[in-house]
Amino acid sequence: MISENLKTFLSDEVMAKAPVSEPERQRYFIERLKGFYSAEGGAGLKSCIVTFGCQMNARDSEKLDGILSTIGFKPEEDEQSADIVLFNTCTIRENANEHLYGRLGRLKQVKRSDPDRIIGICGCMMQEADEIETIKKKYPYVDIIFGTHNFHTFPELLFKLLRKREGIMDPIPYEGSGLVADSSEDALRQEKLLRYGSGKKELDKLNRKPIVSVWTDSSNIVEELPSRRKFPFKQGINIMFGCNNFCSYCIVPYVRGREKSRRPEDIYEEIKRSAAEGVKEIMLLGQNVNSYDGGIRFPELLKNIDGITKGSGIERIRFMTSHPKDLSDELIDVMAGGERICRQFHLPMQSGSDAILKRMNRHYDKHAFMEKADKLKSAMPDISLSTDIIVGFPGETERDFEDTLDVVRYVRFDAAYTFIYSKRNGTPAASYTDQVDEALVKDRFDRLLELQNGIAHENLSRLTGTTGRVLFESISEYDDSLITGKLDSGVTVHAKGDISMIGEIHDVRLLECRGFYYIGEVIE
Ligand code: SAH
Ligand code: SF4
Ligand code: F3S
Repeated sequence: MISENLKTFLSDEVMAKAPVSEPERQRYFIERLKGFYSAEGGAGLKSCIVTFGCQMNARDSEKLDGILSTIGFKPEEDEQSADIVLFNTCTIRENANEHLYGRLGRLKQVKRSDPDRIIGICGCMMQEADEIETIKKKYPYVDIIFGTHNFHTFPELLFKLLRKREGIMDPIPYEGSGLVADSSEDALRQEKLLRYGSGKKELDKLNRKPIVSVWTDSSNIVEELPSRRKFPFKQGINIMFGCNNFCSYCIVPYVRGREKSRRPEDIYEEIKRSAAEGVKEIMLLGQNVNSYDGGIRFPELLKNIDGITKGSGIERIRFMTSHPKDLSDELIDVMAGGERICRQFHLPMQSGSDAILKRMNRHYDKHAFMEKADKLKSAMPDISLSTDIIVGFPGETERDFEDTLDVVRYVRFDAAYTFIYSKRNGTPAASYTDQVDEALVKDRFDRLLELQNGIAHENLSRLTGTTGRVLFESISEYDDSLITGKLDSGVTVHAKGDISMIGEIHDVRLLECRGFYYIGEVIE
């Protein structure tokens, strides 16, 4: 229970004054929460955000972190000792889900000894109704659940959680086409419990049930809420959200919704602001940046961004991900002529087999993929190509797999992210009956890895003795006399240096190739 004075911060009157439009509404709750926590004497409040999944999730986490820091929370690495822990989840493969449950389980004791701690879960996995049910049943100590379409409403949900703990129920807000789940039944139950005079214990239990608010989609993009960058010198910039491609194995279109592109002006504004704050590298983010459509298309957007960043302090522009089917000659031209656009291209092939690519609904074949890779290389001979490959997609035969190896040998990627196919409920491929035998998949996976590792090492070792520009990002994990950074191509380099060089770009001579990274020497 909190004091009467503190309760006034959470009153119906405060609630009723909240603006209706966004982002003003969430900004209002951020301010009220700030007032509440400072009146509570919350100088030492600590928050921990645990992020799973891709760059899109990482960027969302920075936004959630920005909200929490504005309220007054300081970042804390250890989830066991934070006052609020948020898990930003991924569900791309089954092991991503298992990961979350492991971490949640470890918080059970902590929560038991300190029930006022707040545990929240958001992100892609929360867009799946059955996962929400599992959490409610098996992890009842979770406090807030929200999804990808309404993560900007987090301040409001946190405010409502604090009210609920005092027994004040609110209807759960939503917009758009519907709900995956909410907790409006709690208000009905409370009404019944109060009317029919049930015991205090039941009511207390109800007040401690999670606030759940997960939308199926959203009609607009909410801009202009605070964010706190994980690295002060580099930043992801969302240019679009969602995906319309429905590759038959992939859950993303179901959990991230349909494609929505941000307006170019909003993107430029954000980039200019970041530049003014000292950002050196930006990464334009989208599940398929090549289908960006904010009135102009991606090549033009990229060209404009290269233009506006001239002299701004931003020295590197990256983007991901590009779907091969939509990779245009125009984009290759813009890249080749760009001044700050990194010569790095992530081009996910998934498979080299025409039959499998067709079943995957990828809309290109082996030949077309190799042609795109050739075009990139002939326009930019120094380009670094990377890819994603799935092994063991349903129906994959030895011959299909040989086709994948063929493409890997032909294109000679600098890096390949290889995944064992994981069945995702609700996707078309989950109903295919010809799932591949596990031992066979494992064997193929190992063979692919061996081939690719050899190629990556050969490609990389050619750089020995050359000089490259490195943006230093951190102190080396293994040796604190070394600092670690990345070349334009994305390759990791360790070199002697000190903490003052972090966030700076230096010329580095590449001395020794060790597997997938270099030991270098700073020369300027
Ligand atoms: N939008 C990006 C991919 C995002 S997901 C694109 O189209 O390239 C990142 C990678 O995860 C995919 O490229 C794919 O290789 C892998 N992946 C997606 N769903 C998977 C599944 N069900 N099983 C195994 N790997 C999967
Ligand atoms: Fe998934 Fe395909 Fe969309 Fe990539 S393009 S997110 S693999 S559906
Ligand atoms: Fe995972 Fe969601 Fe990204 S499912 S890969 S975090 S879009």
